[in-house]
Amino acid sequence: MPEARPSAPRIVFENVSKTFANGVRALADVSLVVAPGEFVSLLGPSGCGKTTLLRIAAGLEIPDAGRLDRPDREVGFVFQDPTLMPWASVADNVALPLRFARLDEREIAPRVMEALARVGLATVAGAFPRELSGGMRMRASIARALVTRPRILLFDEPFAALDEIGRFALDRELHELSARERLTVIFVTHSVYEAVFLSSRVVVMAANPGRIVGETSIAFAGPRDETLRDRAEFTAACSEVSAKLRDAMTAPSTVDRAGTKD
Ligand SMILES: Nc1ncnc2c1ncn2[C@@H]1O[C@H](COP(=O)(O)OP(=O)(O)OP(=O)(O)O)[C@@H](O)[C@H]1O
Ligand SMILES: [Mg+2]
Repeated sequence: MPEARPSAPRIVFENVSKTFANGVRALADVSLVVAPGEFVSLLGPSGCGKTTLLRIAAGLEIPDAGRLDRPDREVGFVFQDPTLMPWASVADNVALPLRFARLDEREIAPRVMEALARVGLATVAGAFPRELSGGMRMRASIARALVTRPRILLFDEPFAALDEIGRFALDRELHELSARERLTVIFVTHSVYEAVFLSSRVVVMAANPGRIVGETSIAFAGPRDETLRDRAEFTAACSEVSAKLRDAMTAPSTVDRAGTKD
């Protein structure tokens, strides 16, 4: 099973820049190496280019300068909205990427059940999205990203619409899944607590232009379960990240201001 799978891939962004047609400098000279099996969260104010960086990692957006290096056909993308087809069962929703890839139907059924089992949804394979809770719908969306067996997972604020309890539960499950299977993950969130709970590293970005302004490595001695949130080392890491985020929020815009960029 997981041990037999190829080792986790890395993702390299080298001096990546992206300016949209309207002149917005979404990313300016972003360099970031996500190591194999690493879980990196991106935090930063609205408009600092988090989604743009994720879309470039997914190959959905092409940078106009710089380079992205990662293996092909290894990426699963989970959006903020579960975007399930309401008229199709959970199993059919999860099967979609395999049907797109024209996999044999006899292979699809076991692959779908495997993906559903990995997110704890095996018993509701025949249900329709409207019959699921918000958290279950998000798990179905994660199963759909897992069904192609990607080694890289990209998440864009996936749990933002959930209540706190549901969000904590999914955070824990996602941490277990990514650690157990040594997935390489980039996770966009607006929550400092979620970023610290999940990540091996938190990268902080600032806007105008979108750029990386700081990062914090996260390592905890004990397990990452619910007790972690009450531990002093967790609170300390959250304070450190919050301070960097505050700096990022007030970082001067370097647009059209010669001499302010360092
Ligand atoms: N297709 C596009 N065309 C023009 N401008 C865009 C496009 N996509 C994003 N932008 C702009 O690029 C900047 C970065 O957008 P992006 O969506 O990456 O930010 P973000 O960090 O994900 O923000 P949020 O936290 O609100 O999701 C913003 O100013 C946005 O308006
Ligand atoms: Mg975004």
